[in-house]
Amino acid sequence: MNKFPKNFLWGASSSAYQFEGAINQGGKVPSIMDKFDERKNYPKGITGFKVATDHYNHWKEDVALMAEMGFKSYRFSISWPRIIKNIKGDVNPEGIKFYNDLIDELIKYNIEPVVTIFHFDTPTFIEEIGGLDSNQFSNIFELYAKVLFENYGSKVKYWLTINELNMFAFVGQVIGVISEKSKASKWQIMHNLNVAQAKVIRLCKKMLPNVKIGPAPNISSVYANSNKPEDHLAKLNFDQIRNWIFLDIVCRGEYGTWFKNFLKKIKEEIIITKEEEEILKDSKPDFIAFNYYSTMTVEYVSAQDIKKTLDNKIDQHSGLVIPGVGKTVKNKNLPKTDYGWEIDYVGFRNTLREVYDRYQLPIMITENGIGAKEVLTKDEKIHDNYRIEYYQKHIKAMSEAISDGVEMIGYMPWSAIDLVSTHEGVSKRYGFVYVNRDEFDEKDMKRIRKDSFFWYKELIERNGENI
Ligand code: BG6
Repeated sequence: MNKFPKNFLWGASSSAYQFEGAINQGGKVPSIMDKFDERKNYPKGITGFKVATDHYNHWKEDVALMAEMGFKSYRFSISWPRIIKNIKGDVNPEGIKFYNDLIDELIKYNIEPVVTIFHFDTPTFIEEIGGLDSNQFSNIFELYAKVLFENYGSKVKYWLTINELNMFAFVGQVIGVISEKSKASKWQIMHNLNVAQAKVIRLCKKMLPNVKIGPAPNISSVYANSNKPEDHLAKLNFDQIRNWIFLDIVCRGEYGTWFKNFLKKIKEEIIITKEEEEILKDSKPDFIAFNYYSTMTVEYVSAQDIKKTLDNKIDQHSGLVIPGVGKTVKNKNLPKTDYGWEIDYVGFRNTLREVYDRYQLPIMITENGIGAKEVLTKDEKIHDNYRIEYYQKHIKAMSEAISDGVEMIGYMPWSAIDLVSTHEGVSKRYGFVYVNRDEFDEKDMKRIRKDSFFWYKELIERNGENI
């Protein structure tokens, strides 16, 4: 019982714009993230992504550290603006080489590359066709993916389409992924991304029939705040809006009836062409990858009362309010991280169960982790027992989900090495390896193994036994 499969992909994750830095090196063109910290609503006192934790100039050392931890896999994203130079689709050979070298280095250590095609860093040249608002977006995205499949398709067996497509739609402004010029509704943007995702899955199947491809949304069980029937209804509706519409469209090829009626009710319309309907039906994934940090608790509030009760912290896990449906509330049964995210390892098992029951596809976890403020001790150590405890409990919950019958392929928590948070700076650290820099002092970027590094190494050696 509780056995992890023999070839289980233990590893960790990162994303290009949060890790690489080097925004002006190697022929990279600007992305929407390069100037995120100059926007009006960017929180003061924290760094942006220009230098990040300089993986671009430390990649060999970083891969060696992953190999030392015994990683079987590494999930990273390719930076679209490093690969494609302009709207015509001209390719940047230096960008191609960077990821070729990275992938070869991983393979040298028997680390399986798991590649996210698009993790938030839209190139600014996309604005020329109207950005994510445009129904042309999917064509440009497909051209980019084709370049990746041609160049890396023989070496990369696992592909992920778009990171957290659901968070794009809900908290796009907070995490900086939606351009300030955007005018389209969140539902239209969601749909444009869904079509882009479907086109790329279809292309992948055609060009690379032997590899596997899946989506990578952020999924979590939703709890009703009480046993009032209205709160249960709010839970069912949030389940749809937060989770299932994003997985239904990719696994079943259409939006569910509840969602279509919901759009009518709120007088929103998504423009879906006949051709798009066919593409969506014709592009099923091989597995489901998802990111899990926390569950969500909700309660019903009427459309009239909703303004009075707004939670003012809006991010991936709180402050979601849907008029006439309900709103997220705090769950008093759950402890929180330094940054206020609820910790729920039983919820992790519940979420795995729900996703597997609904779609019956193998599951890969592409993010899970704890953001914490960390300071080096005098002898240059990080004693991150809270991270060890967090992972120990989540991995145990995952092993229990396996005994419940869930088919799991791998676990790649966030993050391999410290990087910059989407909107809370570099002090919100997630890695097994500390990077010596502060918000505005880039110091020496020295890599320092945290206590969790040694713990995870041992866990991988034992293939998660006796967790
Ligand atoms: C996910 C994203 O939402 O959570 C990552 O895919 C992100 O890019 C991670 O870094 C943690 O969130 P945050 O806001 O703490 O960086």
